[in-house]
Formats: sequence, structure tokens, C-alpha cells
Amino acid sequence: MCEVPKPTITRERLLKKISGSKSFPSVPKIAAPIIQMANDEKTSFTDLAKVIETDSNLTARILKVANSGFYGFRREITSINHALVMLGWNAIKMIALGSTILTRMCAKDRTLFNHSMRVAQIARFIAIEANFYKVEEFAVVGLLHDFGVIILKTYFPDEYRKALQYSIDNGLPIYLGERELLGIDHADVGGWTLAEWDLPENITESVAKHHSYDPENYHARKTALLHVADVFAFAFDYKGPSWEKVPELSAAAIETLGFTNAELKDVAITVMKMKLDPLIV
Ligand SMILES: [Fe+2]
Ligand SMILES: [Fe+2]
Repeated sequence: MCEVPKPTITRERLLKKISGSKSFPSVPKIAAPIIQMANDEKTSFTDLAKVIETDSNLTARILKVANSGFYGFRREITSINHALVMLGWNAIKMIALGSTILTRMCAKDRTLFNHSMRVAQIARFIAIEANFYKVEEFAVVGLLHDFGVIILKTYFPDEYRKALQYSIDNGLPIYLGERELLGIDHADVGGWTLAEWDLPENITESVAKHHSYDPENYHARKTALLHVADVFAFAFDYKGPSWEKVPELSAAAIETLGFTNAELKDVAITVMKMKLDPLIV
């Protein structure tokens, strides 16, 4: 029987590191009020616009996304209020959260950032094809899904480096190398961190399980979608992270999404032809 390694990085150890860190505060400054407002039904567009406009970088990023080819509006969107009306509350909330966190990711690892953007784009597209509601949420889950890699690189650089080298030496996808050496993978770490930041459970569970899809999970459909988007990004993106082998596509995830073989093939062909959209840069 295969021996399961004792985790060297535990949730407890991780949270202790994060909470004691000055360079990486527990919740990004601008994200905290947005998360709080998102949980309050009484929040209005005007309230949210006011908070966002206190951060000129974030305002600029939202307007850039709103005016990008991602949405394809004909008229230019020039204010946060206008963007809220055009894109809706959820889209802006998710862009704000995602971009705040991703600014850090971009500075740390540009390749991973590009991969995350790619997964965001594919996840949003599959969400539309699979008739999900709130498709913008899938873009954000895609943007955040490998956030655990950044956390591992930041807080456990030596252990992460060894796991990475081990994966390369043994021809394994990085998450399997992490599991074999550290007893956990970056998906666990991402899920723990985002849960600590009070992100909704459907996001934290999808992130935590994107390399271990299980149809019994509560948010199985969302997780299945994220898993498929991630595998497609690796399979079709030639500029993706060269360090990672393409993860195996879960047949159960495809079944959960309800795609026939022909539909899946159509989705894959469209994804293959998609250009990477400058979503949030
Ligand atoms: Fe991953
Ligand atoms: Fe990924």
C-alpha cells in the first residue's frame, strides 16, 4: 500500500506565518471593505463605487477590463458607476477582488499570472457554454485558482523549490510533487488562505479541490468547471508554465458538467483558437 506522507506544511503552520507577516497582510487593504459589502444585502452601487474610487489603480483596472474586448461594449465606459450599470454588481465585485490579489501575483510570478488569466478566460467561456449563472464569478475563480503557489513561494520558498525540482526530476505535475514531498498541494494552500480572507465557500472549495475533483463535494459543478478550464489552459496554451505537466482530465468532472463528447470537442476547439485577452494587467 502506498504510504501517505505526513504533511510538513499544515493549515495551522500556514496561518501562523501569514498572520505574523508584515509584507503580506491578512486581507488586502481594498479587498476587505469589498468583501464586507458583498456580504451585506443593503449595499448599493453608489456605496460600492465610492469605495472602489478611493483606489485610483483599482479604478483604472476596472475601467480597463470594462473597455476590453472581454465584454465588447460599443460605447466607452468612463466611470465606476457606469461600469456597475453595464457589467453588474457581481462582475465588478469579482474584478475588484481578483485584481487586488492578482497585482501581488503579477509582481511575484508573471508566468503564473498569465496562466491564471488564461484559466479565467476559459472558465468564463465554459460557464456560458454550460449555462451557468453569474459567469463573472468563474473568471475570478480562474484568476485565483493557483494562488496557493504564490503563498508557498512567499512563505515556504525552500520547501517549494524542492517540491518543484522533485516534480521536474520525476516528470510529475507540480501538485503531485507537492503532495509527495510536502503532504499537501498548492490547491489546499490556496483554499486555506482564501478562506482565511473570508471569500465565499464556493470559491474556496473550488480552488482547494481543483486538482482533486470529487463529484460528492458540495460545490462540485463549479469545481468541475475550474478543473476542466485549468487542464485546457495547460493543454492548449503553449506559453503556459513550462514547469508543469498537463494534469489529467477528470472524466467525472466532464460528466458533472453534462457535456457530450461532441460538445466537449467543440468547446476544446474554441478554447484552442482563443487569444489571451488582456483582462487585468
Ligand atoms: Fe493548480
Ligand atoms: Fe493552474
